[in-house]
Amino acid sequence: MESDNKNKSITDVQEEPSRRRFLLIAGWIGFLFTSFLVSLLTLVDFYKPKVLFGPSSKFKAGYPDEYPAGKVSTRWMKDKGVWIIRTDHGIYAFLAICRHLGCIPNWIEEERLFKCPCHGSNYNIEGDVVGGPAPRPLFRLGVSYALDGQLIIDKSVKEDRVGVREKDQFFLPV
Ligand code: FES
Repeated sequence: MESDNKNKSITDVQEEPSRRRFLLIAGWIGFLFTSFLVSLLTLVDFYKPKVLFGPSSKFKAGYPDEYPAGKVSTRWMKDKGVWIIRTDHGIYAFLAICRHLGCIPNWIEEERLFKCPCHGSNYNIEGDVVGGPAPRPLFRLGVSYALDGQLIIDKSVKEDRVGVREKDQFFLPV
């Protein structure tokens, strides 16, 4: 009996280091696995594209016939911040942002001027500055036809240089 107890206690003493070793190894494996997992997730997150989907810069603005010649249309001012102008020869569009500090001018039909309420810049129907502190003309926007014949205004395409703004994508002959 005494011999049995002696044998048991010897076995317990022998098992103790191997259990400790097992726990140590298991602990390290757990730690390394967790570290690997965190690194992997961080890496995957880093390479995931961070894209913000905003509203499109293009919009359909109806048919040319909807815009009477010689008029500035304010139809898209509220929703899109754009004026559309039709002359006897064609159509162009302005971005409704003052080139001074970015206020929104108003079209005053009686004076045939775009007038900025903030610091008094005035622009004529060509978009040129005729008064006030604005340093540059209004931006003209890309104008083209959709397949169904409607106008497409592209706010991502802008031009204010005289001689360029009257051509190609910024002026649509009608
Ligand atoms: S923001 Fe238009 S004049 Fe200053």
